[in-house]
Amino acid sequence: MTEDEQKQAAAKAAVDYIEDGMVVGLGTGSCAAKMVDLVGARVRAGLSITGVPTSEATATQARALGIKIVGFDAIKRLDLTIDGTDEVDGQRRLIKGGGGAHLREKIVASFSDRMIVIAEAKKQVAQLGVFKLPVEVIRFAAPALLPKMAALGCTAEMRRAANGDLFLTDEGNYIIDCDFGRINDPEALALRLSTTPGVVEHGLFIGYADIILIGTDDGVQITDA
Ligand code: 5RP
Repeated sequence: MTEDEQKQAAAKAAVDYIEDGMVVGLGTGSCAAKMVDLVGARVRAGLSITGVPTSEATATQARALGIKIVGFDAIKRLDLTIDGTDEVDGQRRLIKGGGGAHLREKIVASFSDRMIVIAEAKKQVAQLGVFKLPVEVIRFAAPALLPKMAALGCTAEMRRAANGDLFLTDEGNYIIDCDFGRINDPEALALRLSTTPGVVEHGLFIGYADIILIGTDDGVQITDA
């Protein structure tokens, strides 16, 4: 199976969890985009759901597919969120934010009864940290936070867009990508980052994912809470 086929298989398995009338968080990234396409197909076939997109990109895609989307002005809770990941370890801990959407993704996941994570096989890791941990920071604080992140034991760099400009998130913030190589204590690092003034959100998702669906050559591997 190609990585693309693995993503497609995981996305398809995730969409099977969606039932009529649900409020569903729609993740961001290439794997999530496949899931949104499949949700669109089910909506065209008669499924009635309300989607909460986790990024402007996903909102645009969902609208084009005819999926009804709302924000927190219209709903209080979500039944389910389906999202991709950059890394997942054996304890269902994640690194997210490769697409720069982890702030909204974490908010949406936090208001969801269940979070289903979908990915291709290579996203499974024994230890988090090979993928650079994205840390979203307010622009004012970024010059001060760059060395502060490095002092935590990583190589820290400002994320740039394809045109060379500093990358701006949907909320108008910057991202510092932190290369730790390996993260020995994700919980301690998450706490440290969450309590650093100027950090808006980091990409460690601990205690969020309920079900992990990984596309593999032997079918979709399911890890359930
Ligand atoms: C975006 C994310 C994505 O879920 C993550 O980057 C995985 O993306 P892809 O499926 O394209 O590899 O966290 O902020």
